[in-house]
Amino acid sequence: MTASPSKSRFKNPRARYNFVGRTCSVTGVGAYVPRRILTNADLEKLVDTTDEWITTRTGIKERRIAADHEHTSDLATEAARRAMQDAGITAEQIDLIIVATITPDMFFPSTACLVQAKLGAHRAAAFDLEAACSGYIYGLEIAQQFIMSRTYDTVLVIGAEKLSTIIDWKDRNTCVLFGDGAGAAILQNRPQSHGLLTAVMGSDGLKADLLCMPGGGSRCPATAQSVAARLHFLQMDGRETYKNAVQAMQTAAREALQRCELAIHQIHCIIPHQANQRIIDAVADRLGAKPEQMFVNVNKYGNTSAASVGIALDEAVRCGRVRRGDLVLLVVFGAGLTWGAAVIEW
Ligand code: ACO
Repeated sequence: MTASPSKSRFKNPRARYNFVGRTCSVTGVGAYVPRRILTNADLEKLVDTTDEWITTRTGIKERRIAADHEHTSDLATEAARRAMQDAGITAEQIDLIIVATITPDMFFPSTACLVQAKLGAHRAAAFDLEAACSGYIYGLEIAQQFIMSRTYDTVLVIGAEKLSTIIDWKDRNTCVLFGDGAGAAILQNRPQSHGLLTAVMGSDGLKADLLCMPGGGSRCPATAQSVAARLHFLQMDGRETYKNAVQAMQTAAREALQRCELAIHQIHCIIPHQANQRIIDAVADRLGAKPEQMFVNVNKYGNTSAASVGIALDEAVRCGRVRRGDLVLLVVFGAGLTWGAAVIEW
């Protein structure tokens, strides 16, 4: 049987890898956040900060913190189960599992392998990818490449973080910003269906020092001294990170839109990395987007790194902000530096 070409309203071939009969569709999304809520009032008791400072500088009111027994693979597995239910698929159908995280359960084996075992997805290949807060979009792009090249039909992409384990709870500059959680998506070959139109990825290793965790790797293995020097916690130059985030996110978003020959006003819902309300506002302003186009939930979860846009996309779909046929723009930025943007026709 000869498959017919996917229908696309976009002429630019880079807008959709329009191979005969194949489209990479997001057929299910899911998210999971831990039950425990840490409010700004709680943080006032931990460090010298105020609800007013955190709210005006970041927009964050509360964040979720995983229990001691709840690991990144557990958060990832629960989000994955919800995405699989949404897509109506079984674990046996999954060909590949990609987990984007900077807080794996262990250095090795990969968290993706642990998730594979928990799901019982015995047929699937599994690996982790590390692109910090940009990991979810990197994962979507990799999944698309495998699907469009006919290597796999069904890919599970998860962004999952237990950032509370690498936060210095004595550092008020960083501990107010982050939270735990997981977001997942099922991507499948769905001929003549809607799908992922394009994904842009970028990185700049020359600025690696702006946001990093110096200890624990081969450069600085764990020692009593490295622990005492607090090198096993996330460190960040907030101001420089802010400036780079605004610039990189608007550039990535513009490139993704250009590839699809779309203008910003044609996008129904823009889901930016949920790091900080001020970054989101600045990016929206530079792109010429209206506030009502932006989807924001950073107030509830803080910055959950690789999980951030996955959690937000799931929420946007469930609350009806994203509907069938809508054009959705995802745009991210993270340590590395890394950045990315994706356009999805829902
Ligand atoms: N409570 C009260 N005061 C604080 C706090 C706090 N939680 N944190 C810092 N301050 C103080 C500082 O010590 C400083 O005091 P000083 O002037 O006496 O030295 C003062 O507030 C101002 O500090 P700045 O760093 O200049 O504050 P700024 O307005 O730049 O806001 C912030 C800081 C929110 C971190 C901002 O720089 C920012 O949003 N950066 C981007 C952070 C980010 O989103 N990172 C993650 C993106 S990538 C990823 O997701 C991995």
